[in-house]
Amino acid sequence: MRGARGRPMRRRGPGNLAVLAVALVVVGLVYAVLVPGSATGADGPQSQQIEEGRRLFAVGCSSCHGLNAEGGTNGEGHAAGPSLIGVGAAAVDFQVGTGRMPAAQPGAQVPQKPPAYSEEEIAALAAYVASLAPGPAVPPSESYDVSKVTQEEIVRGGELFRTNCTACHNFAGRGGALPHGRYAPSLMDSSPRHMYQAMLTGPQQMPVFSDAVLLPEDKRAVIAYIVALQESEDPGGLPLGRLGPVSEGLWGWLAGIGLLVLVAVWIGAKVPRTGRGRSPRGE
Ligand code: HEC
Ligand code: HEC
Repeated sequence: MRGARGRPMRRRGPGNLAVLAVALVVVGLVYAVLVPGSATGADGPQSQQIEEGRRLFAVGCSSCHGLNAEGGTNGEGHAAGPSLIGVGAAAVDFQVGTGRMPAAQPGAQVPQKPPAYSEEEIAALAAYVASLAPGPAVPPSESYDVSKVTQEEIVRGGELFRTNCTACHNFAGRGGALPHGRYAPSLMDSSPRHMYQAMLTGPQQMPVFSDAVLLPEDKRAVIAYIVALQESEDPGGLPLGRLGPVSEGLWGWLAGIGLLVLVAVWIGAKVPRTGRGRSPRGE
């Protein structure tokens, strides 16, 4: 036995160790190149994004939420913005993505408006807030992709919507008033991503529907139902709050009666004239 296999370990040890070391370094480098976003790289793009987020936050958000997102007070000691520690990337993506944040001035409720930040800036702000403490992450796009849902899923989503959401959002998703000058907005312009995040983070008066309470597939069914509402034409042709056959029937009835009255008036106006037209012949 004189082949390499036969040699005692000690003699070939150093050579093999060197090969092993080189291999490890190569694997490490390849890994570092292929997995740039891994949270461990202190100088990786991930931490650059967090730095960028921190910078944007200091400029645009810290006046209300505090320099470290710990929550801020205004001059008179009133809370200007809540602490964002632990609200998670999803809350930031929702609040900034729907234009609610940065809030312009204090009021009963911060309204939606066109977003003030680009997609990348929102992602940076979200990464920064997420780096402070764990919280709900931005959901992956498959979780709110409703392009392939079945009709049964939409029906199930409708049931879930009626149980969980109509109390505030109206059963046609048109929104409604809440106490103290607040309101649940109409969902007719909401995007699937923001719907998912609204359920996940429960903005303001809205309860949090965590993934444990409303399973991700239930959330998708609800989203599919709302999207179907958005896409469907109003059955009655007029947005009457979708109160159903009663209100639409009422309108049909009123319009129909109106038409009948007009016809009656027209006939009434016409009859004497024809009468007069005939009278010379008749008398
Ligand atoms: C003028 C003050 C003000 C500014 C500026 C501001 N916010 Fe807010 N923010 C608020 C207030 C007030 C609330 C609570 C609003 C509510 O409950 O409707 C809030 C709520 C939030 C929430 C929701 C927290 C939760 O518990 O879900 C997030 C996330 C947030 N802000 C992020 C931001 C970010 C990011 C910026 C900067 C781009 C920003 N805000 C700028 C005042 C402000
Ligand atoms: C207790 C009342 C309440 C219930 C129940 C409720 N919501 Fe809301 N919802 C609100 C309020 C209030 C807001 C606005 C929060 C804000 O402006 O900060 C809101 C906001 C939203 C938004 C964001 C709309 C947009 O485009 O900006 C979506 C989407 C939404 N709700 C979906 C749902 C769904 C789906 C359910 C049921 C699973 C539900 N909500 C249950 C009160 C409620």
